[in-house]
Amino acid sequence: MDRDRLLRELTDFLRIPSVSTLPAHNADCRAAAEWVAAELRRLGCREVQFLASGTHPVVWGVGPDVAGAPTLLLYGHYDVQPPDPLEEWTTPPFEPSVRDGKLFARGAADDKGQVFCLLKAIEAAGRPPVNFRILIEGEEEYGSRVLFDLLRKEPERTNADVVLIADMAYVAPGWPAVYTTLRGLCYAEITVRTAKSDLHSGEFGGAAPNAHEELLRLLGRLKTPDGKIHIPGLYSAVKRPSKTERATWRSLPFSEANFLKHRVQAKALTGLKPHSVLERLWALPTFEIHGVLGGFTGDGAKTVIPAEATAKVSLRLVPDQKLKTVERQLAAAVKRLAPRHVQASVKFLHGADPAQVPVSHPAFGLLDRAFDEVVGRGTVPVRAGGSIPVVPALGRGGAPVILTGIGLPDDRLHAPNEKLDLKQLWDGIRVFKRFYELLGSGERA
Ligand code: BES
Ligand code: MN
Ligand code: MN
Repeated sequence: MDRDRLLRELTDFLRIPSVSTLPAHNADCRAAAEWVAAELRRLGCREVQFLASGTHPVVWGVGPDVAGAPTLLLYGHYDVQPPDPLEEWTTPPFEPSVRDGKLFARGAADDKGQVFCLLKAIEAAGRPPVNFRILIEGEEEYGSRVLFDLLRKEPERTNADVVLIADMAYVAPGWPAVYTTLRGLCYAEITVRTAKSDLHSGEFGGAAPNAHEELLRLLGRLKTPDGKIHIPGLYSAVKRPSKTERATWRSLPFSEANFLKHRVQAKALTGLKPHSVLERLWALPTFEIHGVLGGFTGDGAKTVIPAEATAKVSLRLVPDQKLKTVERQLAAAVKRLAPRHVQASVKFLHGADPAQVPVSHPAFGLLDRAFDEVVGRGTVPVRAGGSIPVVPALGRGGAPVILTGIGLPDDRLHAPNEKLDLKQLWDGIRVFKRFYELLGSGERA
């Protein structure tokens, strides 16, 4: 492996600020798609296309045909999250820089570095006997709407023997993982209106309703300090993880105290205390407030009673909750909690059902072996707190979906100073190379 060249190439990819949620970066998203397409051509793909093109095309590649060989569909995303707050980055997010064996840049771990790893492993394996199908999208961080529509119209794109996704992390250094569930997501704006327009707080204060006050009260009732979410029916579809699963979690190299001290870096952990932290992260729904808009937030002081206030919120969903049901439950709870003099409404921005993937297919055994050979330990089955909206759709063709990754828990996804350890990248290329070889040779686990 020519590591200098590989690092230069990954750096070129990471330099493109392909932020899918900000329209100002539409051209950059297209440039990142072009970068992926050029890479697929270099790899010898006989077909490279932009599907559902426009601003965030899905890049589709078909590798050279190998008669009788298994078909492997690789999925990843070239879009990234916004980099703000910029002042907290040690080096700028789109000027990749290596310090202490780590590559710092937005997208280094989520997911450009991992897409790079999957693709360079094909090169490293020297065209292994596998029929590659490659699907790299540019809207994962915004709900994957384009890809959903595409797969609804063209479900045959997911026809494969195995689907492989590298968009996750080891559970701990030296502990590679495969994921059995992903949480779903229900992202919404809750808006409260209390009057026709803003009012002078001297003239009206004391007798007029205040939109921010009403919104905060409503939000405070939706989730209480004990961590319980008060949306009627929300927990009824939630499946408790089995005893064996909980026992496995207890044996993982995970300490609640270290998690608080080194990762959360707060004074205390919150949430439903009767449940372990891993249960709260992996097997229970959440309700988070992302931001509150409206009223006066500028410099200085303005004495006003706001007539409207909006909160951006989201719920994470777990098996067997359904997005559609949760949307209905949230809308009903908001209606019920708003006093009669308050007009409350809910607008849904995007979402995803939770995903559940069985990990018993022999292909999981091959990946396990590849990791064991390269890093000295096979994969542990765990769950993920995050979401990849399109995963249930990728499995609809019947192929096993392997969710794994080469990141580490401290990669700071979506946050300032996101990084990828270069050792993880070099190991990762060898792991996937070995996996392709094992799969291609018709090896059984
Ligand atoms: N790669 C992450 C998902 C992830 C994060 C899985 C951590 C496991 C652990 C993905 O890119 C992501 O951030 N997804 C979004 C999806 C949403 C915007 C629809 C998420 O989870 O917030
Ligand atoms: Mn990702
Ligand atoms: Mn992400």
